[in-house]
Amino acid sequence: MKGLVLSGGKGTRLYPLTFTSAKQLIPVANKPVLFRVIEAIRDADITEIGVVVGDTADEIKAAVQNGSRWGVNITYIHQEAPLGLAHAVKISEDFLGDDRFVMFLGDNVIQGGISPLIKQFASSEWNSQIVLTEVSQPQQYGVAELDDRGRIVHLVEKPKVPPSNLALVGIYMFDQHIFEAVHAIKPSWRGELEITDAIQWLVENGYEVYPYVHRGWWIDTGRPGDMLDANSRVLEEIVPYVEGYVDRDSEVDCRVTVEKGAEIINSVVRGPAIIGENTRLVNSYVGPFTSVYHNCVIQDSEIEHSIVLEHSVIDSLPSRVQDSLIGRHVVLRRSPIRPKALKLTLADYSQVGLL
Ligand code: DAU
Repeated sequence: MKGLVLSGGKGTRLYPLTFTSAKQLIPVANKPVLFRVIEAIRDADITEIGVVVGDTADEIKAAVQNGSRWGVNITYIHQEAPLGLAHAVKISEDFLGDDRFVMFLGDNVIQGGISPLIKQFASSEWNSQIVLTEVSQPQQYGVAELDDRGRIVHLVEKPKVPPSNLALVGIYMFDQHIFEAVHAIKPSWRGELEITDAIQWLVENGYEVYPYVHRGWWIDTGRPGDMLDANSRVLEEIVPYVEGYVDRDSEVDCRVTVEKGAEIINSVVRGPAIIGENTRLVNSYVGPFTSVYHNCVIQDSEIEHSIVLEHSVIDSLPSRVQDSLIGRHVVLRRSPIRPKALKLTLADYSQVGLL
């Protein structure tokens, strides 16, 4: 069995963070979402993985490299534009050949334990297996309608009037018959070759598509709120460890991970939380559901339920930062220089919530 990870696309809903970087590389609990996806595939004993890349190819290649750190071989497949998930399958035909494969969307985070399902498909007779889960807003996803016996009746992409609340999770398993489907279908109203239409084609042409309903959590990290949600869920599940330095005046509870080289000085950290490599916390408070990535400084400030990316500085803020997504190399500092005013340099599409 092979793996295919979709890591193209533009990530417009996560602007401004994704103006300069790939959305699949934004870390959740200090690990890029894409790395979590590769690990999930590796855990199903798959070592040949194709990664579909677009405009952000260079950045993704620099981060993932040849996959040896996970014991897998990565092959990069270039997609000239985000023309749809089924288009990504089409251009991967040479890489996939006649092998059965699992396709993961590179920006989805799912609760662990999916590898038995993938292994089950590897030895099954089905032509495809899809993963569904109940959601509250099905119109934002591909949606499946099942009959009384749990078989697929109909699949539709982002319907205005959803036939059920069962959304297609970004994990799909196929055999080589999917290539007949992706060659047969036409682009949708949004100009994309939809994987949902390709699976519908398989159903209509008598192929066996088996739906599995996932009962754990699953998050499509399309929007900033989704990133914070995914971060909280993963922080709750990771096993904490302390490899950095915590001084005697600090209070760090048992659900806090302190990565190597991090320093916590006269500060309070309440978990679940993670403090990244070489990050310094001085006279500060970091509250639950916060991930501070590598090489940051937080001084004389308070923050909770937030994600801070690498090389950012938060210094002497008069009020607590909360529910925030802070990018790379950001400086948030109280300015001693008059006039007393907000002095902002914000990228396009930035959002600031003031008191
Ligand atoms: O998240 C689950 C949903 O993902 C499913 O319920 C939908 O049926 C499915 O179409 C898909 O919908 P999205 O609109 O959320 O897909 P998005 O455009 O966000 O792309 C998902 C990932 O695939 C993302 O990592 C970018 C990558 N991608 C996307 C396209 C359109 C590619 O690599 N190439 C592409 O052409």
